[in-house]
This record gives sequence, structure tokens and C-alpha cells, in this order.
Amino acid sequence: APAPRPYRIGFSQCTNGDAWRLAMLAGMKKELSFYPQVTFRMKDARDNSAVQREHIAEFLREGIDLLIVSANEAEPITPVVEEAYNRGIPVVILDRRTTSPLYTAYVGGNNQEVGQTAARYISSLLRQRGEVLEILGAAGSSPAVDRHRGFVEGLAAYPGIRRTAQVLGDWKHPSVLRALPAVLRDHPEVDLIFAHNDRMALGAYQVCKQLGLAGRIRIVGVDGLPGPQGGIQLVQDRVMTATLLYSPGGEEAIRTAMKILLRQPFEKENILSTMVIDSTNVLTMRMQTQKLADQQQDIQRQQQLLQAQLVTYTSQRTVLYILVVA
Ligand code: FRU
Repeated sequence: APAPRPYRIGFSQCTNGDAWRLAMLAGMKKELSFYPQVTFRMKDARDNSAVQREHIAEFLREGIDLLIVSANEAEPITPVVEEAYNRGIPVVILDRRTTSPLYTAYVGGNNQEVGQTAARYISSLLRQRGEVLEILGAAGSSPAVDRHRGFVEGLAAYPGIRRTAQVLGDWKHPSVLRALPAVLRDHPEVDLIFAHNDRMALGAYQVCKQLGLAGRIRIVGVDGLPGPQGGIQLVQDRVMTATLLYSPGGEEAIRTAMKILLRQPFEKENILSTMVIDSTNVLTMRMQTQKLADQQQDIQRQQQLLQAQLVTYTSQRTVLYILVVA
């Protein structure tokens, strides 16, 4: 195996402005703590594809040994990612894809399957009969395209469920608060809202509540994050009937990147699985994620302890050295 080199990983993140992305970054940092010889730099494009293209070009100029990228929109980010790949820089695509097969590995969910699973769950929830409104993620981002495609495909098996209306969201809350009221006034027959993420699902709930519809219209989201405003809490509080787990995959991304850099065997497609979280399993999920968070804290404390011991040891050695030499 090649000796550990001071590898440079560049991470081009489409946005770092929400809890899901912060969980992704936390997972990356945790895994990176095992590789002190690696330099890791993130550039946050704040939902702007032009900025993200520039960030990746900067990384290429500055010099990196591996690129991790979550593409804000698939089309505009593709050429510069292909350029990196063609220059021999390994590329790990994380969560949001480009349109090109030119990448070294993918880490993330299967979003078409997320859409299909949502369709199956919803039709059984509505006993195969009802009117559904879909709130899409940002146009041109691969999870929005694939979740929508999977949802439409999935519903095709249930002719009693109608996709009555849709709202073009952008993954964020305000877009839903703005657009949803008018659509719901035009379609009072809607029984259920499927939102492409939990943040937009929460926005939908707030609109429904304002219109006095919160008791009647059910809401299903995607992500299922632990923590205060996370999807698990929203299911437990019955704001949403269910959410589909979609893991941020930060740890897995770094693990895959390191395998590539250390020339170890790796998979090209690393698919993180999804599942429905609803009232039947939300308490289990909550307990499990809490336990994970506790263990995470323990690991951090152990690392701090180790660090402190290393400092003591180093200074003791210095003292010893001075004593012996003097
Ligand atoms: C976070 C997010 C998630 C969503 C994912 C799709 O930035 O909007 O809510 O599942 O990105 O890429």
C-alpha cells in the first residue's frame, strides 16, 4: 500500500445552509479525524451553479488529489466535473449527480426508489383512492428529477390515486409558503401532500394549518433527520404522517474517497438505503439515533482525552530529555 501522503480533498458543496448538509459535514469530519494526514477543504456554492462551477475550477487551479461534489444542478455542473475527471482527478459524487458517467464513485440514495417507495406507501395509506399534491425539489437537481420520476412511475400502478396538482419548490421553506396557498384553494379535494424534503413538508403543514386543513390533509416528506426540527421529530409530533429516510452519507463519502486515494478496492455505486418512518417505528428510530449520537459524543470525549494525554506525554518527554542532557 502507498505510504500515507498529505492528500488534498476538495469538497464542492451545493449549499451548506441546512441541517441535512450540516449533518453531512459532521459525518465527513468525524471520518476525516482518522486521517490526520489529509487536508480537507469545502467550498459552499450557496445554491448557485455558476459559483459552484467557479469553485471547482479554483480547486483544479489550486491542486487537489480528489474531488467530492454535490451538484447544485446536474446540467451546468457536468462539464467542469468531467474536466476534473479527464485530468485524472478521482471524483466522488455525493447525493446530487451530474448527467455524466464520468466519475469515479457515487455515494448517496437511490432517489427514484425514494419516489417509488413514497408512491407505494401513500397508496396503501389512502387505501388506493385519493388526490395527491406533490411538492418538488429544485428544478434540475438530480434528486428532484429522480424522486419525481419514481413517484409518477410508482403511482402508475394505482389508478385510484391521482396526482392532482404540483408545486415547484426549491428544497426550501419560503417557496412553499408562497406558492402552496393558491394551489390548495384551487384544489380543495387534495387528501395528501408529498414533499421532496422535510423542510418543504413543514412549510406545507404551516400552510395547511393556516387554512384550517391540517387535520384533514396528510403530509409525507423525505430526509428523516434526527434532532429538534428533524423529520423524526416531525413524525413523532404528527406534523407529518411519514418521512422517507435519506441519509446525508458524509462518513461513507470520506470512506470511499480514502479507499480510492489509498488504492484499495471500492464500489462505483454506493447506494444508501431508504425506508419509511411513520408512527409504527418512529420511537425505535428515535431511540437508535439517540444512541448513535451518545456514542458519537463518547468517541469525541475519548479523542480529547487522547489528545490531552499526548500533550502530557510530550511535555514529560521534554522534561526527561532536559534532565538527561543537562
Ligand atoms: C439538503 C437537501 C435535502 C434533500 C437533498 C437533496 O440540502 O435539500 O433536504 O434531501 O438536499 O439533494
